[in-house]
Amino acid sequence: MSLNNNQYTCLACHRTYTADSGVFDARSSQLSELAKEEALYHDHIDEDACETHQLSAWRNVFYHQYVWNFLTKVPKQATLVEVGAGTGFDAEQIYDQDKTLVLTDISAETLKRVAQRLNKNNIQYVAADGVQLPLADESCDVVYMIAVWHHFEKPGEALEEWRRILKKDGQLVIGVEPNRFYFYPIKKLRPFLCHAIHADEHEGSHADAEMEGFSYGQIQKYLGSGWRNVTIRPMWLFGGWMHYGLEFIYRVFHLKKRIQPPLWVEKMIVGFDELLFRIPGVRHLCWHWIVTAQKV
Ligand SMILES: C[S@@+](CC[C@H](N)C(=O)[O-])C[C@H]1O[C@@H](n2cnc3c(N)ncnc32)[C@H](O)[C@@H]1O
Repeated sequence: MSLNNNQYTCLACHRTYTADSGVFDARSSQLSELAKEEALYHDHIDEDACETHQLSAWRNVFYHQYVWNFLTKVPKQATLVEVGAGTGFDAEQIYDQDKTLVLTDISAETLKRVAQRLNKNNIQYVAADGVQLPLADESCDVVYMIAVWHHFEKPGEALEEWRRILKKDGQLVIGVEPNRFYFYPIKKLRPFLCHAIHADEHEGSHADAEMEGFSYGQIQKYLGSGWRNVTIRPMWLFGGWMHYGLEFIYRVFHLKKRIQPPLWVEKMIVGFDELLFRIPGVRHLCWHWIVTAQKV
C-alpha cells in the first residue's frame, strides 16, 4: 500500500485511487450481488449501530476487551487491517499512533462517517470488498473483524484472502461470530419473529438475514490448515438470552428506549456464563464465538 498526496496506489494491482472525504474507493466493478446489497444497505443505514447492538453495555465490552487486549499487544510499527470496520467502535479503542490502522468496509459512506468521527492520524480508510482487499501479499501483521465473517457467501474464500495479506506468523482475530446452534433455527423462524416485532422481513442486511452461523466444528475445519495456535472462545450463554430477549421486548412493545439492566446483573450473568463454559460441552451453547489464529 502506498499513500501519496491523497492518492492511494494498490500494491497488488497497481491501480491508483483518489480520496473522497478521506476514503479511498478500491471496490472492484465486479462485486458479488451480496456485496453490492451490503454496500447499499450500510451506506444508507439510518440507525446507530452502537445503540442497536448496545456495544457500550458491559456484557459487550467484556468480550470486546478480550479482542482489544489481543490487538493492543502487537508490536509498535505494526500494520493492522480491520475488515468491515462499521461503526469504528473497536478501531477507536485500539488506536495507537505508532501503528498503522487500515479500516476497510464494503460501504464507503460508513467509512466516511467513521473518518469524520474518529478524526485521527495514522488511520487509512479504504472501501473494499473483504474478499478483494487492495493490499499486497504478506503486507500486514494483523487482520481483525467483529461480527463480519458471516457476511461472506464463501467464508473459506474470505479466510484465504486474509491469509494472503498476512505476513508469516501474522495474527487473525475474528470476533463475535454467531453460533449455528441458535442462528440456524432463528433463520428458519425469521418470518414469525419479524411478524412478532412488526418488522418487514425483507428489510435489513441480506447477509444477516441469510446467515446460519458457524458451529465450533465448522470453524475448526475452516482453520484446519494454513493456521496454527487456533483458539475458539465462547461468548454469552445466559448473556445472549438477556441481550436478544431485551431487544425482542424493545421491538415488540415499541419501547422508547432500550432497557439497560443494572451493571451488577450484567456482571453476574456474564460471570456465571464464564463459569459454565468451564464445564465440558457447555461452550457449544454459547451465542457467539471469538476466534484467534496465526498464519503458518
Ligand atoms: C454487523 S456490521 C459490524 C460492523 C463493525 N465491525 C462493528 O462492530 O461496528 C458488518 C459490517 O461488515 C460490512 N460488510 C458487509 N459485507 C462486506 C464485504 N463483503 N466486505 C467488507 N465489509 C463488508 C458492512 O458494511 C458492515 O459495516
